[in-house]
Order: sequence, then C-alpha cells, then structure tokens
Amino acid sequence: MLGIIGGTGLDQLDLIQGRMEHAPTTPWGTPSAGLVTGTIENTRVAFLPRHGHDHSVAPHEINYRANLRALADAGVDRIVAVAAVGGIPEQPGPGGIVIPDQLIDYTWGRPSTFFEGEGAEVEHIDFTWPYSQSVRQSLLEAAQQADIPATDGGCYAATQGPRLETAAEIQRLERDGCTIVGMTGMPEAALARELNIPYACLAVVVNPAGGKTDKEISLEEIRGHLKTGMNKVARILQTLTT
Ligand code: HPA
Repeated sequence: MLGIIGGTGLDQLDLIQGRMEHAPTTPWGTPSAGLVTGTIENTRVAFLPRHGHDHSVAPHEINYRANLRALADAGVDRIVAVAAVGGIPEQPGPGGIVIPDQLIDYTWGRPSTFFEGEGAEVEHIDFTWPYSQSVRQSLLEAAQQADIPATDGGCYAATQGPRLETAAEIQRLERDGCTIVGMTGMPEAALARELNIPYACLAVVVNPAGGKTDKEISLEEIRGHLKTGMNKVARILQTLTT
C-alpha cells in the first residue's frame, strides 16, 4: 500500500476510488485528519492531508508522530510526501517539480522522534540520505512517462514557519546549499525513517523564496501556481500507480 501525505493545495485527493475514511488513534495522539484508503489505478493507497482536510493545522502544530504512526498502522510500505515549497535558484520557477535528495532541518521545538519517553530505548537511525532512492526513482520515472519535467535532486530546507523567510535567511539557506524551502519536511522524513518506511518528497515550487523576487509574495500568486503544480502532482501519482 502506498502512503500519500498531502500538503498545501492537496487537502483532498479526488483520484481515490472506493474511498473509506478511517479515524485512527495512536499512542502519540490523533493524526491531522481521518485517513482515506482506496485505490488509484492499480494501487492501494492511504491518503493523509498533513494540515487536515480543511487546512486548519499549522506546520509547527502538526502531530507528525501520530500522522506517521497512523500510516504505518494502515500498512503503508512506502510514502510519497507532497509539499508546496519556495524556490531558491531561478530554475525551476513557480509551477516546477523537484524531487530533493537532501535536507537541512532548521525547525525547533517539534517532537521529532519515537525513541523517547519512559521505557523507550535510545536509537540513532542512519539519516545520511534522508530520502528513499527507490521511491525517488519511481517518482522521476513517473514524471518522465507523464511528460512532466522534474528536477532530480536538491536540498530541502525545513523552516519553522508559519511566516515566510527574510531575504537574509534565504541567502543563508542558499550558502548552506539549499535549493527549496518548506515548513513541514521535518521531522516527517526522520520519523518515516525511524519506522523504516521508504519515504520521498514530491515538491512543487509555488513562489520564488524571500528576496528572490522584487514583488511581495502574495497568497493569490501562490494559489495560482499551486493549482498548476497540483495538476502535475495528480498526473505523476496516476502514472506512479498504473
Ligand atoms: N518558504 C517556506 N515554506 C513555503 C514557501 C516559502 O517560501 N512557499 C511555500 N511553502
């Protein structure tokens, strides 16, 4: 079963057939929303919108542990995490697709491991390569088959939000080698690794990052690019599951 985590602009996934909604609870609490299971093309899927079906959960308030535990309990054996991001280099511009291969975590104060608390054993996962190469490869192949250009590789900067970044912060991320910036990539990716679930990020650039455009970053502009980007995401997911 394929797990799909929806991001901003993908709070519903209409592609799913034979939908059943589940309301799981986990030892870590309840996930952002009910889990929708069903099929896309030939594949069983479980879909979870990380901000809730009505987009009401802020990035720093998401219960990432409950979300990942609920997907694991549903039986997913790989996860595609869809994310709307800011773009740091000029290319690809808004509407472009990136499948990153690295990340840097700039978030703080988020519960970020399953390996804590009374009776838990301390474990240190290998996280040298935070994204699953096999899931990345299948996404790249699906994008190619669907005739959608996708950037192979890049470094995702996970920032705290919910505000966007200053121009100086983006310059710093750029010096650090980051190419895209979003608010939800961590601890999500690390928790998937702790559960041993292959996980990759399917990122849609929806705005030039702070200081990379002369204009103010507006929600209208973001919404427009989200729409184009999420159409591409739907076509990639459809090809991936065929
Ligand atoms: N920064 C952080 N997160 C984002 C952005 C951004 O510019 N755009 C969409 N998510």
